[in-house]
Amino acid sequence: MTQHNASNWTPQTSVNLQSFNTLALPVVAQRYARITQLEDLSAARNYCHQHGLNWLLLGGGSNMILTQDLQSLVMHMAIVGKHWVPAENLHCTVQTSGKGIRYLQVGGGENWDDLVAWSIAEGAYGLQNLSLIPGLVGAAPVQNIGAYGADISQILHEVMVYDFATDKQFCLSAAQCQLGYRDSLFKRQPNWIITSVTLALNEAAEVQVNYGDMAAYIEQQFACHANEATPQQVREAVIHIRSSKLPDPAHIPNVGSFFKNPIVSTAQAKALRNDYPNIVAYPHGKGHVKLAAGWLIDQLGWKGYAKGGVGVHKQQALVLIREPGLDNSSTGENLLALARQIQADVAKHYAVQLEVEPRIFASSGEIQI
Ligand code: EPU
Repeated sequence: MTQHNASNWTPQTSVNLQSFNTLALPVVAQRYARITQLEDLSAARNYCHQHGLNWLLLGGGSNMILTQDLQSLVMHMAIVGKHWVPAENLHCTVQTSGKGIRYLQVGGGENWDDLVAWSIAEGAYGLQNLSLIPGLVGAAPVQNIGAYGADISQILHEVMVYDFATDKQFCLSAAQCQLGYRDSLFKRQPNWIITSVTLALNEAAEVQVNYGDMAAYIEQQFACHANEATPQQVREAVIHIRSSKLPDPAHIPNVGSFFKNPIVSTAQAKALRNDYPNIVAYPHGKGHVKLAAGWLIDQLGWKGYAKGGVGVHKQQALVLIREPGLDNSSTGENLLALARQIQADVAKHYAVQLEVEPRIFASSGEIQI
């Protein structure tokens, strides 16, 4: 049993993480502790120093691949709480007039989608396009979660960070987080742990409905002009579209998109379009184009592929899965082997390098492939 605030703070030993990662990989943590308050982080830090251990922070386990049993201390983020913060009490000054904006500070251990549902019910909007994304609030800025035309950079105000190297807490403004496409400063700061995020939510019910077939679905389902849909209707549309393409990890273990959509030069995209006129691509800043990796993989015939307990989802080629079933003994390494095969095939045909999107952890710590 983990003990709080005590010099004899000790983690649990030999904890199976199968139910703590959405790939349901039965990896064992030699030491495991739930972190429910800031003091737990200090105690865990002392413990790591005393025992010469590395550490790993586990959130919802929805964006990580565990390839081996973990010798390090696994800390499970469970700092919860939601508080409305008056603008004058924010750490970072508000740039605009802030009229109609309400600031909500949320503990890193809160469930993301519960927060989305709760905020809409409270009449504070901006999260609806990010409905049903698995995982915890603290992980949201790390990969700048995004879906259906929105990402967290549009509503993030500030982030509280605990530095495991110095035992200090500090605040970063959204701008300081360097949020990019599935990227942020946090991916390059291995000692930082997000303990809470503060979101700037809007009292006005403005909606963004221009992604893919969202507007068409809303108009058909709710018999209204898509721009006049309520945030709750947008949430329902996103849930419908998401569920029709992305497997529910509770039934089919997965980590969502396995690769980032690759960003290439407009010249390379033009050359590719000559060879593949139907290629799916979106403008991405000056001189760059983002390719739909799902399309590239799908065209090479991988959709629905299955072998040795791992495979490619039938409805979305960008999603690698572990097949359901208690007798599935496939490992994180098996998934990575499939990922390497797909990367090689895509590189051979399109000269495009696919980058793995979730983070990969071996017993020695985070690794890249
Ligand atoms: N496509 C295919 N075949 C496939 C999959 C996709 O042809 O098997 C083509 C289709 O033309 C489709 C296009 O690719 O219109 C884009 O597909 P989709 O709308 O499903 O989105 P995505 O680019 O594959 C990204 C995010 C998702 C997010 C959706 C919706 C990344 C890496 N992934 O996927 O995020 O939900 O857009 O906004 O950017 C995640 O990060 O885990 C994730 C699920």
